[in-house]
Amino acid sequence: MIADLVITGGTVVTDSAQFRAAIAIKDGAILAIGDDAAMPEARERLDASGKYLLPGAIDAHVHFREPGYTHKETWETGTASAAMGGVTTVFEMPNTKPPTGTVDALNLKLKAAEAAYVDFGIYGLLAEDNLDQLEALIEGGVAAFKCFMGNTFANLPAPPSGAILEGFEIVARHGYRVSLHAENASIMARRQIKLREAGRTDPLAHLAARPPVVAVEAVSRAAILAEWTGARIHILHVSSGDELRPLREAKARGVDITAETCPHYLLLDEHAYTEKGSLIRVNPPVREKAHQDQLWKGVADGTIDMIATDHAPHTAEEKHNDDIWCADCGFTGVETQMPLMLTQVQAGRMTLNDYVRMTSTAPAKAFGLFPRKGALIPGADADIVVVDLGREETVDSGVLKSKGSSTPFDKTTVKGVPIHTLVRGRFVMRDRALVTEAKGHGRNIRRVQQMPLPTPRNVDQTTAAIIAFRPGAA
Ligand code: DOR
Ligand code: ZN
Repeated sequence: MIADLVITGGTVVTDSAQFRAAIAIKDGAILAIGDDAAMPEARERLDASGKYLLPGAIDAHVHFREPGYTHKETWETGTASAAMGGVTTVFEMPNTKPPTGTVDALNLKLKAAEAAYVDFGIYGLLAEDNLDQLEALIEGGVAAFKCFMGNTFANLPAPPSGAILEGFEIVARHGYRVSLHAENASIMARRQIKLREAGRTDPLAHLAARPPVVAVEAVSRAAILAEWTGARIHILHVSSGDELRPLREAKARGVDITAETCPHYLLLDEHAYTEKGSLIRVNPPVREKAHQDQLWKGVADGTIDMIATDHAPHTAEEKHNDDIWCADCGFTGVETQMPLMLTQVQAGRMTLNDYVRMTSTAPAKAFGLFPRKGALIPGADADIVVVDLGREETVDSGVLKSKGSSTPFDKTTVKGVPIHTLVRGRFVMRDRALVTEAKGHGRNIRRVQQMPLPTPRNVDQTTAAIIAFRPGAA
């Protein structure tokens, strides 16, 4: 058999091991892993001597803005940025215009996503006014759901607990995961009004409006509703040490709950508000150093399962404003995650295996893609990133492929850079250059593996059961 490509000389890294091996690729999948000398003939060979071969990163949290806000980002620019960042699969968020809450809106997004360089899953919106659409969205090809418990860009209204519970009941029957923007809308709205009335417009007022209780309340409530319904849930962008306790407790109770944090919560602290000004505005906010220390503990002990980016591009004009309440929230991230975190790996803050687990294997498992993705084994998709751990670069927002490329990490020195990215065996980045012919190569992954359905809980207490219940009737 003749392989399409054999990568020789590199060190293969999985979530649990590292070993010198070659990888042979055929028809988009990994054909063999083994000694260089044992590889089949191939149409092409790539010498990766001295380099590391990692499963491509799976970023469970990106906003690509199309349809609706294409001046900030498009599927083409967002996935180009992913390809440059060693990210081979993204999960894209529903706060576009229109929001991805109906099948029509989903179809618009799927059309836009035809330009993708990398594979993708689409989040369907779970809101109060579209509970009757959730099953049609599953049928239509979403990979997971997103529920905004607190307001953020696009100001989608936070569903009340009753609607979240009913949404969880519906989604739980299908085993799909619901990712939560876990911030309590009412607490922060009231705080923000008071801060504005007091004349606060400085960057730190944003942090003051969203104290940790905002997140702790929402994480705890989401966990209770998930426990009650058997829904699988994922807590997005954990920003505070205080969220770790409800996460740990829920995991200990057997709730199927996963959590992510993002590079900006692990690497920045309150000083960023004076150093970066309104650029740092993001929801939830970057917090004080003590939270950062706790988050690293949560990473080390497994309470935090994944690192995602919350890639949320806006234009420079939208980011910079003397009145913090008028600066858009979020910033680009999908392209910088890998170099930033590989720098931390080399500083000894986590192992390379932990890095692979948190950026690839764990999201693949949580969203039903494993082992087709998130693993370097024969038969898996050949989603591979070739990394040069010795290479030093300086982050330059001017060269990022993202349209809204303002980043608080501009001018940061990094060590450890992806140099080639392959999606299902095809180069989408080669020698640090985007392979523009690979535009449109990305596919909707949906769920490539059917996950077993979770054990339903409280089936006699579901909304349907309660409506049917007639006390005293035979
Ligand atoms: O800061 C943020 N920006 N946080 C979010 O949750 C959403 C995002 C956006 O869409 O801009
Ligand atoms: Zn987000």
